[in-house]
Amino acid sequence: MQRILVTGGAGFIGSNFIQYMINTYKEVEIVNLDKLTYAGNLNNLRSVERDDRYSFFQGDIADRQLVNEILCCKKFDTIVNFAAETHVDRSINRPDDFLKTDIFGTFALLEAARQSDIKRYLQISTDEVYGSISEGSFSEDSSLTPSSPYSASKGGGDLLCLAYYKTYGLPTIITRAANNYGPFQYPEKIVPLFITNALEDQPLPLYGDGSQVREWLHVEDHCRALDAVLQNGRPGEIYNIGGYCEEKNRVIAETIVDLLKKPRELITYVDDRPGHDVRYSIDSGKVKSLGWQPQISLEEGLSKTVAWYKKNRKWWQEIKNTEYKNYYKTQYGRRLAHAKA
Ligand code: NAD
Ligand code: TYD
Repeated sequence: MQRILVTGGAGFIGSNFIQYMINTYKEVEIVNLDKLTYAGNLNNLRSVERDDRYSFFQGDIADRQLVNEILCCKKFDTIVNFAAETHVDRSINRPDDFLKTDIFGTFALLEAARQSDIKRYLQISTDEVYGSISEGSFSEDSSLTPSSPYSASKGGGDLLCLAYYKTYGLPTIITRAANNYGPFQYPEKIVPLFITNALEDQPLPLYGDGSQVREWLHVEDHCRALDAVLQNGRPGEIYNIGGYCEEKNRVIAETIVDLLKKPRELITYVDDRPGHDVRYSIDSGKVKSLGWQPQISLEEGLSKTVAWYKKNRKWWQEIKNTEYKNYYKTQYGRRLAHAKA
């Protein structure tokens, strides 16, 4: 039996990963440590919550005593750290928790891991640490030039992981993935925000002129890549995980309204995000050499994702009735009023 500590497993990618591992492997036991911030949702894990191989523990990765106790009591083979504050717009409004979780929380986990005899520590990171690139793609050796408090904090966590490998020999591996989309994504990120707004005939607030480019990766392809890295990746290494498809935000918005047969007039151009990165692009050749490649095209993935949000209204409507209401008003109220004027 392989025992894995997953942190942040009640969020979007973490919950998809837990479901993927439990459904793919018999001999795996997963403990999910999650603080249950606004983004953590135990409804994401209904399909595995009764499985004997899965258990949940509510707690903060930045709580050093708690993390030490968890790693001392149970012997884990692997730690997979998804726990983070993740939304760029929130990091612009209030960076504090980003530094606490994404940097200090990573430090607390690494320190506890150093006192244990884990075989792998996998840090889930992002292509945003490289910053924007106008032509070509970033490789794992590219320097870090993050633009937002979110990407700067994630970069800080990455650097700590590299230092713990070099200094203490802790078997850390870093993965840097492109923009993910798919089921169970909190509707603050562009894809689920635009799908759910369109379903409610609400405006789709597109920043600036909508010409910014992101590389898109379906969350199931991401989970398969993480599995390949856990099996065949080398400690001390970094692996980019891209979806091999880049697209402008404007095209993403148009595709979503077209799939839902809604009018394109719902797309509303609003004031741009400060420090908005123009284009993300990564070279994923290294992770491909581990035997992985994406299986879901953007066209197929968006269509499946739209179908999932159509079918799972209750899931996202419950979220939209929580703190999300205030967040949405603060983030978009003035922007949308301004756009209409
Ligand atoms: P998410 O915001 O959906 O979920 C984050 C989870 O972490 C939540 O369950 C939350 O409760 C938990 N959490 C936050 N602070 C915590 C703390 N201090 N202690 C314990 N748990 C805490 O995020 P996501 O989109 O699933 O992203 C997961 C990871 O993947 C993050 O590290 C993110 O940087 C990285 N990533 C995300 C994307 C993307 O497009 N979403 C792309 C590349 C990398
Ligand atoms: P987002 O989903 O926040 O991911 P990230 O900033 O981490 O890439 O945003 C993806 C792109 O979509 C980004 O260029 C900003 C843009 N965007 C909008 O145009 N409108 C929105 O309401 C949001 C949330 C994002």
